Amino acid sequence: MEVVIASTDVLTGLAAGAVEALLRSGRPVVLGLATGSSPLAVYDELARRHREEGLSFAAARGFTLDEYVGLPADHPERYRTVIEKEIAGRVDFQPGAVRGPDGLAADIPAECSSYEEAIRHSGGIDLQILGIGTDGHIGFNEPGSSFASRTRIKTLTEQTRRDNARFFDGDLESVPRHCLTQGLGTIMDARHVVLLASGTAKAEAVHHLVEGPVSALWPGTILQHHPHVTVLVDPAAASRLQLADYYRETYAAKPAWQGL
Ligand code: GLP
Repeated sequence: MEVVIASTDVLTGLAAGAVEALLRSGRPVVLGLATGSSPLAVYDELARRHREEGLSFAAARGFTLDEYVGLPADHPERYRTVIEKEIAGRVDFQPGAVRGPDGLAADIPAECSSYEEAIRHSGGIDLQILGIGTDGHIGFNEPGSSFASRTRIKTLTEQTRRDNARFFDGDLESVPRHCLTQGLGTIMDARHVVLLASGTAKAEAVHHLVEGPVSALWPGTILQHHPHVTVLVDPAAASRLQLADYYRETYAAKPAWQGL
């Protein structure tokens, strides 16, 4: 697990650079796309590189991480709508190249299986962009999630619903109680995981993620078992890291050829 502590601008450039390197490799690339505020600056930067520097997503595919259950098709907070607005619709993905689990499916277990099958069929996710919840969730894998879990329905914690109420005019009751999310096992199958976190509200979750014991109580800690994880954090989100000086020193002395 590599930890980079830097300003948001630097972190944004690193994450966008990792996506760009894959897209320019000439291989068909599969991206994992997260919602939430953490990746927004990266999506803005990717859209800029597309617009101004010809970065193309035409040969890429995308899979979103999660989705609310039951939000009406025209609701602006439906994650497939959010992903379309924040990234997919701003670059040149082919029609149908970005897919998310359907929170309005009549048969939820069948929808989850077919989503897993679609990811498998695509060849698997090359780079998964992730945020982290204040309660340590990744995707919507709340505390207690199985480390072996695949895409399935979950119940949101009150804390997550409170955190996300800001997207629903501050009205907790409007935040759905259920969601579909790639499982921890699904996320662990991605070849490279790039997790972004900023602000003091994330400091405790980031500390557990990087330095805590691996525990279902802090679901993101499973990433300690992943061979290629990059944790991009601003100084506030890094403020509870015990080994912050070491991470800074390591990154400063990193050989240039290593990349992310
Ligand atoms: C949300 C999403 C996650 C996201 C996390 C943090 O509820 N389901 O995918 O990473 O919580 O959100 P934010 O980036 O807005 O802090």
